[in-house]
Amino acid sequence: MAATNDAAAGKKLIVVLGATGNQGGSVARRFAQDPRYRVRAVTRDPTSAKAQELAKLGMELATADFEDVESLKAVFAGANVIFSNTQYWEAFFRPDCRADAAAKGISCREYAYIVERRQSKNIADAAAAVVDTLDDNGFLVSTLSHAGKSSGGRFKDLYHFDGKAEIFPDYVNDTYPALAAKMSCIHTGYFTISHHILPGSYFRKHEDGTFEMRFPCKPTTRVPHLDVNHDAGPFVYAVSQMPPGKAYMASSGDYRTFPEWIGAWGKLTGMPTRYTEVEVEDLQNEAHDEMLGLEVAIMLRYSDDPGYDGGMELLKAEDLRKAGIDCPMLTLEESLARQDWTAVINKPVWNAPGVPKGA
Ligand SMILES: NC(=O)c1ccc[n+]([C@@H]2O[C@H](COP(=O)([O-])OP(=O)(O)OC[C@H]3O[C@@H](n4cnc5c(N)ncnc54)[C@H](OP(=O)(O)O)[C@@H]3O)[C@@H](O)[C@H]2O)c1
Repeated sequence: MAATNDAAAGKKLIVVLGATGNQGGSVARRFAQDPRYRVRAVTRDPTSAKAQELAKLGMELATADFEDVESLKAVFAGANVIFSNTQYWEAFFRPDCRADAAAKGISCREYAYIVERRQSKNIADAAAAVVDTLDDNGFLVSTLSHAGKSSGGRFKDLYHFDGKAEIFPDYVNDTYPALAAKMSCIHTGYFTISHHILPGSYFRKHEDGTFEMRFPCKPTTRVPHLDVNHDAGPFVYAVSQMPPGKAYMASSGDYRTFPEWIGAWGKLTGMPTRYTEVEVEDLQNEAHDEMLGLEVAIMLRYSDDPGYDGGMELLKAEDLRKAGIDCPMLTLEESLARQDWTAVINKPVWNAPGVPKGA
């Protein structure tokens, strides 16, 4: 009923994929604050607690599956703006997907790439069907750089980058010029919450109380960082006010090194810290999941050269501000200060008896 009233009131419709997740949730919440928009939040399960939270904020819930192009076309109906985000890691970790990958004789890394690429293509195909209703800058897509191309073929299997980039923008540019003309590509920096994925590599706790960060990434390499829950929404909202056809890096303030990351955390918590550059194989072997360790380790080496952004010229928050658009972003320090570090500080020493690998 709310959606019908909003439509009658002439509000613009933004359809948010991944609305129950980090990126999409932040985007949906930001647009919901603007009375000129109504938000259609897309999920596979409108009964979930996260979906219900969005409904309580006045958003319309709609059901679709990235595997089902017809369901996507249905939720895109009447859209002025679409925000797209895909999730590489679901198919990477799901036990049924791991079993299917093993049966097919491919790694879970490659399997998840095939899934993400297929789902992204479905999203592009469905968006192309509603291109006429979209605003001039109405197709806002979350993506990453193409590691294979950006590195001149040196990085052949950074799967969670290439699967995104092969569709956004490559397939869209090649297949749907009218949709490409309405697209903005938004790359996202390292999430400042990603320590949850690899706790032992972000924070190896030693007996003397020191916390060591261990990454295969040069200590001088600067990478973008993003408080995804706080800042993805404001960034995408700012991008929506730009002309189409540009590519961006959503990042909290300046690019920073990982020694600066762990140093900022140490300053915040009062804990002694250090940074150690390790090899790809070290991260792979030390992670709780070897394939996860490998995929992330390759990304960290790619961040050294040609760079996390592939060496692309991407517009940043400061460029949006120069264009006169408000684009508030937290600094790395502010983002770290928003998190509760009690569990990290109190975790057991990394090699104490009974501590699982990579914890
Ligand atoms: N971690 C990092 O540092 C980092 C940095 C840059 C980029 N990324 C990228 O960020 C992406 C993950 O974003 P996120 O953290 O926002 O994800 P997330 O919090 O896990 O949320 C995933 C969202 O996608 C939806 N979804 C997943 N599969 C779907 C399907 N088949 N059909 C319909 N909806 C589906 C989920 O909706 P329902 O479950 O409600 O259906 C959920 O809303 C990954 O691809 C990753 O590569 C991560």
